[in-house]
This record gives sequence, structure tokens and C-alpha cells, in this order.
Amino acid sequence: MVAYQALVLEQTDTTVSATYQTKLTPDLAKDGVLVKVAYSDINYKDRLAMNPKSGVLRHYPMTPGVDFAGEVVESDNPFFEAGDQVLCTGYETGITIAGGYAEYVKVPSEWLFKLPENLSLAETMQFGTAGFTAAIALSKLLRQAFTADHDTPLLITGATGGVGSFALTILAQLGFTNLTATTRDLQQTDYLLHLGATHVINTADLTAGPLKALSHQTFTGVIDTLGGPVLAHILPQVCAGGFVATCGNAAGATLETTVMPFILRGITLAGIDSVYYPRKDRKELWQLLATTFKPEIWPTVNLVAFSDLARELSQKTHKTGRVLVAF
Ligand SMILES: NC(=O)c1ccc[n+]([C@@H]2O[C@H](COP(=O)([O-])OP(=O)(O)OC[C@H]3O[C@@H](n4cnc5c(N)ncnc54)[C@H](OP(=O)(O)O)[C@@H]3O)[C@@H](O)[C@H]2O)c1
Repeated sequence: MVAYQALVLEQTDTTVSATYQTKLTPDLAKDGVLVKVAYSDINYKDRLAMNPKSGVLRHYPMTPGVDFAGEVVESDNPFFEAGDQVLCTGYETGITIAGGYAEYVKVPSEWLFKLPENLSLAETMQFGTAGFTAAIALSKLLRQAFTADHDTPLLITGATGGVGSFALTILAQLGFTNLTATTRDLQQTDYLLHLGATHVINTADLTAGPLKALSHQTFTGVIDTLGGPVLAHILPQVCAGGFVATCGNAAGATLETTVMPFILRGITLAGIDSVYYPRKDRKELWQLLATTFKPEIWPTVNLVAFSDLARELSQKTHKTGRVLVAF
């Protein structure tokens, strides 16, 4: 047994506090894989866990962190040996069982993947759940026939954030030349142009005006991370035969819409779930992230030491791009 530090969230009536606690690595017996964590990251959900009303965590106290990358220490599965570099995103990690915000974590072997060649432990968590989610959405978008035309008009919402910035930079790298990115802060325009946007609009422009059943056909494909009223205003603007990947609800979870874009324009609204994405398909996506999807221009990476993570989580400020947690 080894003593290690874990970040633990505890709930009072109105707040969630984050403190470091000393734990002992579990006796593995025949149950799971013990990993020494090298990197984790901060995802939207990890910040939500700091809100006692979010419902993200089923119970407190809990060590959060929905993903991590590190080295196997001990394993119940012969497929994983001590020293293997592995990654984990989603499943119940940091939700119902202790997650990646600890120096050691134990998870079932079926939640783990060996790192693909050409991705370091740090790069794996620069992507993290956000990059993996973007990869799922893009893999579905790229199956649409209209993407054969690289000048087809595509929209990426929440493009300064984790999921949106990966979707944007990867699409630009793949040669798409008509990419509209949204932000509520037009001071981010240069950053979004740097990632590959060809047009940057204020998110509020999408929701200006009354919500119509159908409006001007503007975008063939959409990667939406915002949901709510933003998605409601996007659907009537999707071209006939168009495709929308709905990844998130940063702007709201309620969707007010009509069937008209679906029955008169044949558009598709595809849900994206990274948490329980089938294991059999994950390896292929990580392979893409290690090769053709690996960005030449990465979204901003804000590096935070594990020892500073509690303070970082307690701050409400939003950072553009990604937060990488180094152990
Ligand atoms: N489906 C899945 O498996 C999955 C996986 C990961 C994430 N998600 C979801 O995807 C969404 C985005 O995640 P993320 O990691 O990209 O988060 P993020 O890094 O916080 O980025 C979200 C972006 O959305 C914009 N935004 C935030 N609140 C907004 C609001 N109220 N109205 C309009 N724009 C707003 C912000 O950009 P500006 O400040 O520039 O406007 C921000 O950069 C979240 O809802 C998250 O839960 C889903």
C-alpha cells in the first residue's frame, strides 16, 4: 500500500468544498487496474461538480475528475501490465467512483485504453473528454455526403471552449474553408481565426429575432455545444439534408422547436454521448486523434499543478481552451 493525495469534494447545504486528503492505495485482489495518474484535465462537468445543485455527482464526499492518463501499477487483466501507459474518459469515473483528481486511481479494466502511438500522456489529456467528444461529433459529420465539398458552410458553437475549439481546429486542418465560429466575447475573434475559423459571430446574433419554424438555409453542418435557445434558433437555419451534432447544453437544456426542419428539409439532429460511447468504437477515434485529427494548432492549454487544482476549481473564471492538470 502507498499513501497518496486525492482531491475530495464535500457538500454542505449551499456549497461544495475541495480539500486534499491522504489515502492508501487499495488492495487490488482481483478487482480492477491501479493507475498512477500523470495528467488529468478540467472538463465542463468537473466544474459543474462544484455546484451542489448540479446533480452531476451522485454522492459526496467524492474524488472528481472524469478522465485521466497515467501508468499502470497493478492489474487484474493480463491485457494491462505494470508500466503500460493508459487513458480513461467517461464511464463512471469521477461520478460514482473516485476519479482522476488523485495521484492513484483504480478503475475496471474495460474503462481503460492503451495510449495510441504518437500521443503523449499530456496530449491525451489536452484532448481529454472534450477532444474525444469533438472526435465523435466530427466522425458523424464527416459521414455526411455534403462534406465532400470542403467549402460547405459549417457552424461550430461555443468555439472558444474545449469541445468547440477541437471541432474547429480539426475541421480547419482537414481543409474545410467555410467555418463559422461563435463566441459571446468578440475579443476572442483573433483566437478563433487562428484556430481556423473563417467567420466569427457573436452567439447572440444566432438568437436575435423571433424563433421561426423555418428560416434562411445557412449551414449544412453544425457542431453545437450550447443547446437551449441557441440550438432552437439554429435548427430552422440548417440547409435541406443538413446535419447537426448536439454535444452540450452550456446555454440551456430545454429545446423549443418544431418538426418543420425535419419533415420539410430532412435535417438530422444527432445526439453525442462520450460517456458511454461503445468501447468497440473508441480505439478508432483515439487513433484518429493521434493522426489525422491531431491538431497542428492546439487550442490554448492552461497548465495547472495538481497542488493548485482545488484553488482552480473554486474560481468561477472561465479559461479559453483547455485546462491540463499535471501531477
Ligand atoms: N455529450 C458529451 O458527451 C459531452 C462531453 C463533453 C462536454 N459536453 C458538454 O458540451 C458543452 C461544452 O463543453 P466544453 O467542455 O466545451 O465547455 P467549455 O470549455 O466551458 O466551453 C463552452 C463554451 O461555451 C460558451 N458558453 C458558456 N456558457 C454559455 C452560455 N450560457 N451561453 C452561450 N455560450 C456559452 C463559452 O464560450 P464564449 O464565452 O466564448 O461564448 C465557452 O467557451 C457542455 O454543455 C458540456 O457539458 C458534452
